[in-house]
Amino acid sequence: MALSDFDLVFFGGSGDLAMRKLLPAMYSRDVCNDLPDSARIICVGRDEATQEEFLKMVETNSKQHIKDTPEEASWQRFLKRIVYVALNATDVATYGPLAEALRKDESLTRVYYLATPPHLFATICDNLAATNLVTPASRVVLEKPLGRDLASAKQINLDVGKVFAESQIYRIDHYLGKETVQNLLALRFGNILFEPLWRREWISDVQITIAEKIGVGNRLGYYDTSGALRDMLQNHLLQLLCIVAMEPPTSIAPDAVRDAKLQVLRSLKRFTPTTLSQNIVRGQYRGGYVDGQAVPGYRDEPGAPKQSKTETFVSVKAEIDTWRWAGVPFYLRTGKRMADRLAEIVVRFKPIPHSIFNQPTSSFQPNSLVIRLQPDEGLSMNLMAKTPGDSMRLKQAELELDFREQFKSPRMEAYERLLVDVLRGQLTLFMRGDELEAAWEWVEPILEHWEQDDSTPVPYTSGTWGPAASSALIGRDGLQWREEV
Ligand code: BG6
Repeated sequence: MALSDFDLVFFGGSGDLAMRKLLPAMYSRDVCNDLPDSARIICVGRDEATQEEFLKMVETNSKQHIKDTPEEASWQRFLKRIVYVALNATDVATYGPLAEALRKDESLTRVYYLATPPHLFATICDNLAATNLVTPASRVVLEKPLGRDLASAKQINLDVGKVFAESQIYRIDHYLGKETVQNLLALRFGNILFEPLWRREWISDVQITIAEKIGVGNRLGYYDTSGALRDMLQNHLLQLLCIVAMEPPTSIAPDAVRDAKLQVLRSLKRFTPTTLSQNIVRGQYRGGYVDGQAVPGYRDEPGAPKQSKTETFVSVKAEIDTWRWAGVPFYLRTGKRMADRLAEIVVRFKPIPHSIFNQPTSSFQPNSLVIRLQPDEGLSMNLMAKTPGDSMRLKQAELELDFREQFKSPRMEAYERLLVDVLRGQLTLFMRGDELEAAWEWVEPILEHWEQDDSTPVPYTSGTWGPAASSALIGRDGLQWREEV
């Protein structure tokens, strides 16, 4: 659906995210003829560069990230929308060229996307306000990391909130832009089948995994001060958990969904120092082989501190203290340099109570529903079925729904979907300020404990499913991670 006219400003406009994700996402919309002719993309960066020099940079650094090689005519049309503005984000006196680049119409949608380190958020917002660049039709998009603990997250909310109303603030978690995450909403609330079973009486446990094959790459500077807990668990994994566990919202309206998610976050059982060491495993990759290629250990990555305690893997057994979920473990796991790249949610149902067949109850695999986000998108449901032949033998069989096969229509990348939502003023897939704080509140005791604790993350070999301690964490409950069965 075509968008109405806008000025979209990318702070950090010459940075990695803009080049790899944001500009390609906007190109994809442009090529679908969704952008009005006059819509503009203003890239703001620190470095002095002429318009021509900047467009060359886009040509070299961004074009390669577009899925299908662009046709020259549509690429040239896209480049015409881009305006480069050099300014020093911390110096209000340099904001003049930005003011000139923006159209004066106060009713025009104006989006400031802050793809910058979070310590710049407050200053940029203040400077935009001081130069009268915040109109009632303005929106601000905040890119992660949204703080590094509860206090800093609160501070961001406070600082940005002085300039923008909550309804103008879009906190990005790109996992919410993934097609299958939204499909999970469709599955749960568009079908009668699952909701009656979606509770402690019928579900035995839930596993949520985001595994990556890549290592820390060239992001060591950021990553070494962050780690897997802050980088992945506090945001992406908890957001997936919220969508799996939330009560049915009354509608898909932003606050209905965000209220339901907030309730989950607030119901997460808090860890104490004792429960924490029993229920959380942190790991760090050592050298090994991924796809047959030798890869270095985390501490041997270029620039890594030799004694780094930064975790590249974390697994947690979480619990939600509500009537619906009391006693159901939610195992969350993420890591870099793992055996495979995958993101999936596994909902395991309880075993059958009694076997009427000549097979013991223990030979019946409990039903499970696997929701795959990556690399392919789909659903599979494991059922018991009769094997062909003259005897009544039951075996596990799979019902499979492959979203690509089922729906041939072109897919939108997460950032593309989220950018479109920002431009349309649709807040449902963005985190509200109180949600962000509630997620940090739950994570905070873990961070504090690790800071005070002398122990280091347990090592795991690159190309595996993480430390043995993580298998033991789930093994204590008589279970296994799906990939280790
Ligand atoms: C980002 C993290 O938010 O998500 C990265 O900062 C991680 O460390 C990435 O690699 C994973 O996203 P995706 O969409 O590739 O699974």
